[in-house]
Amino acid sequence: MTDHHLQRIARHDPDEQSDRLVARVNDALKARLEGTQDEARRLREAMNYVVFNGGKRLRPLLVYAAGQWLDLDVDQLDAPACAVELIHCYSLVHDDLPAMDDDDLRRGRPTAHLAFDEATAILAGDALQAKAFEILASDDRLKDQPGPALEMIAGLARACGVGGMAGGQSLDLLMEGSQPDRAAIEHMFHLKTGALIECSVMMPCALKPDLDPAQRELLGRFAHKIGLAFQIRDDLLDIEGQPEVIGKATGADQAHHKASWPGLYGLEAASQRLDGLADEALRCLDPLEGNTTMLAWLGRCLVKRDH
Ligand code: IPE
Ligand code: IPE
Ligand code: MG
Ligand code: MG
Ligand code: MG
Repeated sequence: MTDHHLQRIARHDPDEQSDRLVARVNDALKARLEGTQDEARRLREAMNYVVFNGGKRLRPLLVYAAGQWLDLDVDQLDAPACAVELIHCYSLVHDDLPAMDDDDLRRGRPTAHLAFDEATAILAGDALQAKAFEILASDDRLKDQPGPALEMIAGLARACGVGGMAGGQSLDLLMEGSQPDRAAIEHMFHLKTGALIECSVMMPCALKPDLDPAQRELLGRFAHKIGLAFQIRDDLLDIEGQPEVIGKATGADQAHHKASWPGLYGLEAASQRLDGLADEALRCLDPLEGNTTMLAWLGRCLVKRDH
């Protein structure tokens, strides 16, 4: 699958494309997590347990969708797609720990600290984070392009560090039991969830150095808005979703006195904000030159999803 495979699959409908790309990233993840040595077997088992368990793979799909818009060779996108999913999986394992959200169910199965133990769950998160950066730094398809690989590494580091996911998770915990205004809660959402979603959309731009800055800016605005919308939808699902569909407990945000968008401002206002953000996001795609079919489809899926 070297030459413009994405363009060929673009002739199919986005549903079919997304199924193929989920299978593709699952294969790519398997190949990259396979170990030849038997060391730290329990840790490896835990890493596999938290990666291969039915995640939606939305962030990898966003990488492929942005790559499709940029008309990139799909082989160059596997490394960023895997890297962003591994960071996401690590963030979920740590998010579920007793010291954080203390959740028992994730993707329909016992959380990692219950299936294994707390120390192993912490270490699995640590090792997945390291693996994500190793993948970007050593991928065969990126090795001859140190500039783009470095740009992706820097972008991913920003998105998961203190100015991104980790910082947002800290704010999330500090905001428990408080009543932040909308700007403050959305800032926290942007950091804990939006930054990694935005990074997924923007990483492929590193492989297109001559991209028009105005087009890049519009893509960034699209990504920012869907990132925020994604967390509002997650908060809504915590109230309105079905545990057997979302694969995690419902009512957890209220139980933990989380600063949740619908929890603070009501279900109706949250749905309106979600729809407004989705419209604004999709409008950012209108002036983009190129194939935005998959980006637009994912933008719509993210806000309408039932899991
Ligand atoms: C859940 O993310 C955690 C948030 C950032 C809100 P997803 O809904 O993408 O979870 P998976 O990967 O499909 O399990
Ligand atoms: C999680 O937000 C954000 C992360 C960085 C993992 P939540 O705590 O709301 O995610 P869920 O509901 O547990 O998946
Ligand atoms: Mg949380
Ligand atoms: Mg949580
Ligand atoms: Mg949640």
